[in-house]
Amino acid sequence: MREFTSEELVTFNGKNGKPVYIAFEGKVYDVSKSPLWSKGLHMNRHPSGKDLSGEISAAPHGPEVFERYPQAGVLKKGPPEELMHLPPVLQNLLQRLPMARRHPHPMIVHFPIAFLMAASLFIILHLLFQNPFFQVTSFYLLILGAISSPFAMATGLLTWWINYRLKLTPFVKKKIQLSILLLIFEIILIVWRGSSTNISNPIYFIMMVLLTPTVALLGYYGGQMTFPTEK
Ligand code: HEM
Ligand code: HEM
Repeated sequence: MREFTSEELVTFNGKNGKPVYIAFEGKVYDVSKSPLWSKGLHMNRHPSGKDLSGEISAAPHGPEVFERYPQAGVLKKGPPEELMHLPPVLQNLLQRLPMARRHPHPMIVHFPIAFLMAASLFIILHLLFQNPFFQVTSFYLLILGAISSPFAMATGLLTWWINYRLKLTPFVKKKIQLSILLLIFEIILIVWRGSSTNISNPIYFIMMVLLTPTVALLGYYGGQMTFPTEK
C-alpha cells in the first residue's frame, strides 16, 4: 500500500486534475467521487490533502463516513506539512497541544474588544450625564484594555506565523497598522488621564470613543480571515 508523506499528500487537493485525498488516523482515503469534497474543500472549511483526524470532533458525523470511500494508502508518521516551517520545539509542542495552533488569539481578543468598547461607552455616558463616576470607570476599563491588548497582538503575531507563514496579506497589513494605532492611543490616553484627573479637552473624548471602531475593525478583519465572506 502506498505510503504518503505529508508533503506529498498536500498536492492531492482536487486542483489541476489531481484526486482528492484526506488522511484520517493514519489512513489516506480517496474522496474524489464525493460531491461534498468535489472542490477539494469540505463544508467550506476542511481542506483536503491533509490529516483531518483532529477535526472530526466538530462534525455532525463520525468516522463511519470513510466506509464509503476507498483507501489510497497510509500516512507516514512525522510532523504535518503545515508545521514544517516552524522550529522543531514549536512543531513538537503544537503536535502535543493542537488547540494552541489556532485558539489562543480568538480566546484573548475578547478582552481588549470588550474592555475598550466599554471604555468608550462609559465616556459617552459621562458626557451625557456629567457623572464623574462614569469617567473614572472608563479610565479603569481603558487600563484593562491596554493590559490585555498586547497579549492579543502577541498571539495575533503567533497565529500569523503558525497558520499564515508570516505572509503579509492585505488584512494582516491593516491589522498590524491598526494594532500600532491602538497602542499609541492607549499610551497617550493613559498618560494624559494619569497626569490630570479633570480633563475637558474634546480630543481626549474623541480618542476614547475612537477605541471602539479601532477594535471593531481589528476583529472584523480577523473574522474575514477566519470566516471569509462568500462572494
Ligand atoms: C464541522 C465540520 C463538518 C461538517 C459540518 C460536516 C458535514 C458533513 C455532512 C452533512 C455530510 C453528509 C452526511 C453524511 O454523509 O453522513 C458529510 C459527509 C462526509 N464528511 Fe463531513 N463534515 C465535517 C467535517 C468533516 C471532517 C473533519 C472530515 C474528515 C476527517 C469529514 C469527512 C466526511 C466524509 C468522508 C463524508 C462522506 C462524503 C460523502 O459520502 O459524499 N467531514 N460531512
Ligand atoms: C488588539 C488587537 C487585535 C484584535 C482585537 C484582534 C482580533 C481578531 C479577531 C476577532 C479574529 C477572529 C478570530 C476567530 O474568530 O477565529 C482575529 C483573527 C486573526 N488575527 Fe487578530 N486581532 C488583533 C491583533 C492582531 C495582530 C497584531 C495580528 C498580527 C498579524 C493578528 C493576526 C490575526 C490573524 C492571522 C487572524 C486569523 C486567525 C486564523 O485564521 O486562525 N491580529 N483577530
